[in-house]
Amino acid sequence: MSFSYTQENSIKIASLLNRYPQKKALILPLLWLAQKQDSYISEDAMGHISEFLNMPYMHIYSVATFYTMFRLTKPQKRIIEVCRTLSCELNGSEDIKKYLDNNYSKEFEIIEVECMGACSGAPMCTVDGKYHENLTTEMIDEVLK
Ligand code: FES
Repeated sequence: MSFSYTQENSIKIASLLNRYPQKKALILPLLWLAQKQDSYISEDAMGHISEFLNMPYMHIYSVATFYTMFRLTKPQKRIIEVCRTLSCELNGSEDIKKYLDNNYSKEFEIIEVECMGACSGAPMCTVDGKYHENLTTEMIDEVLK
């Protein structure tokens, strides 16, 4: 297998092992770390997680494919995720998405996602996983510099 976690992520995993009494509860954190590390979850990463948790590959695969926020293919561009859930929508996420589509779709893959837990900073988006909150269309150019 060609996937392995970075040293930094391995340290995080060791810490997580202490917090979860059952190792299998680490499926979601391990998938998140794999995606954060490589921008997507490869078959090799799922195989690595399967071995690490001593669980069937298909179980890992079924969890990874259930949640729409997991990406199983390598993105071709950098990624901007725009939250479209209630707090963000009420505070202008639709305008943010339109502005991004009109001005940045050549350089970035712009996708809508559900609540990312930053509702108090609505509207928000992530750029390569980094949160940007209280966005206005005027702020976007500054954020993407
Ligand atoms: S509704 Fe957008 S982060 Fe929660």
